[in-house]
Amino acid sequence: SNERQVLPDQPDLKVIQRKITGYVGFANLPKQWHRRSIRNGFNLNLLCVGQKGLGKSTLINTLFNKDLYDLSERPVTEMADLKLEDGVNPPEQLEEEQPTIKIETVSTEIEENGVRLTLNVVDAQGFGDAIDNTDSWNPIVDEINSRFDQYLDAENKIERTVITDNRIHACLYFIEPTGHCLSPLDIEFFRAVHEKCNLIPVIAKSDILTDEEIEKFKVTIKDQLNEAEIKLFEPPKYLIDDEETTNRSDKLHSKIPFAVVGSTSDVSTPDGRVVRGRAYPWGIIEVDNEAHSDFVYLRDLLVRQYLEELRERTSNILYENYRSEKLKNLGIKQDNSVFREFDPDLRQKEEKQLHEAKLAKLEAEMKAVFQQKVNEKEKKLQKSEAELFARHKEMKDKLTKQLKALEDKKHQLEMSLVNQSANSPVQTKKKGFLR
Ligand code: GTP
Repeated sequence: SNERQVLPDQPDLKVIQRKITGYVGFANLPKQWHRRSIRNGFNLNLLCVGQKGLGKSTLINTLFNKDLYDLSERPVTEMADLKLEDGVNPPEQLEEEQPTIKIETVSTEIEENGVRLTLNVVDAQGFGDAIDNTDSWNPIVDEINSRFDQYLDAENKIERTVITDNRIHACLYFIEPTGHCLSPLDIEFFRAVHEKCNLIPVIAKSDILTDEEIEKFKVTIKDQLNEAEIKLFEPPKYLIDDEETTNRSDKLHSKIPFAVVGSTSDVSTPDGRVVRGRAYPWGIIEVDNEAHSDFVYLRDLLVRQYLEELRERTSNILYENYRSEKLKNLGIKQDNSVFREFDPDLRQKEEKQLHEAKLAKLEAEMKAVFQQKVNEKEKKLQKSEAELFARHKEMKDKLTKQLKALEDKKHQLEMSLVNQSANSPVQTKKKGFLR
């Protein structure tokens, strides 16, 4: 016990009391997110579908206030021309070759207050322009799918770098302003794509219809969409939304399908303002005036309010559905629990399965190629073996012949030697001697 007293005393452990202020700092997260987003920029891949001349290019230019499409060389069709077109076409035009669908992408960077937006507009030219439009949506569906596939491949790479998101985030569909109802082609197209992209239908060139006609047209369209069970993109509602946000989103929702008017030209109003719009003898239609058309609502939905929602729904729902469907087709079973897409374990498992299925396929292919190579080599070897054998036999025959010839010669020589000795005098002498 004496020894123990020699040991130096342990210093008293002091508990340091720190005051917790309560403020941890995660309220700063939006700011961090904001900074990162500004740095990375945003991208929007917009698919535009509609018949020729419905004002697609004009509307895109109007939406983003930029000349993405050069409109200067386009024929000007005004309201009067629009409804005439059917009757005006000479009959021989009907026998023209069927137009095929061409998918073209136009890209641009837009910057506003230091925020960069990369805009890719995918235009399906020639849609609905054929006499028989059966299955004419297939190239468009293929385009959407191939963009999903590209993303899926990038996700499944062993080394994943930053994946460029080329998936279609929204599809603007231009409805012809007939004022009657949707065409069967419209509905078939909606059916083909509504579960693959955020569908946003618009009534094109709505300035050719009166307000009452638009209202009636919208009701008919909505009925038809309900009947066909077509899902459109809807502005989402959140519990945290304040009354104003909820009202705005309700109003936006009520305006679908948006009756739009596009124009990049400036016109002067009677009260001396200069606005983007279309001038008519009876007055001016202002593009950016919500009392005149639904253009403002469309822009709100697409860019100002819900761009991120469009991207998120594409990624979390539409792409996920496509992905799981693809896995199912590969013969991989999965459980369909509600939160499947957000379960990282399951997702990892699915990815592993997908990867393994791919590997197995690759292995089978490699095996087949290997077997084929082996077969070829074997055949070649058999052939050269036969050749060798033939050559061997040929040489052997030749040698046998040579041997035989030599033996013959030897025999002849021996014979001549015998003969010679028989005839020589010595021999004779000898013979004689012997006799
Ligand atoms: P394609 O490239 O041939 O498919 O045509 P598009 O759908 O891109 O149509 P575009 O924007 O070239 O417009 C065709 C014509 O319609 C042009 O003369 C435009 O001035 C006119 N136009 C465009 N938008 C509107 C609109 O909202 N109302 C009216 N009345 N005319 C419009």
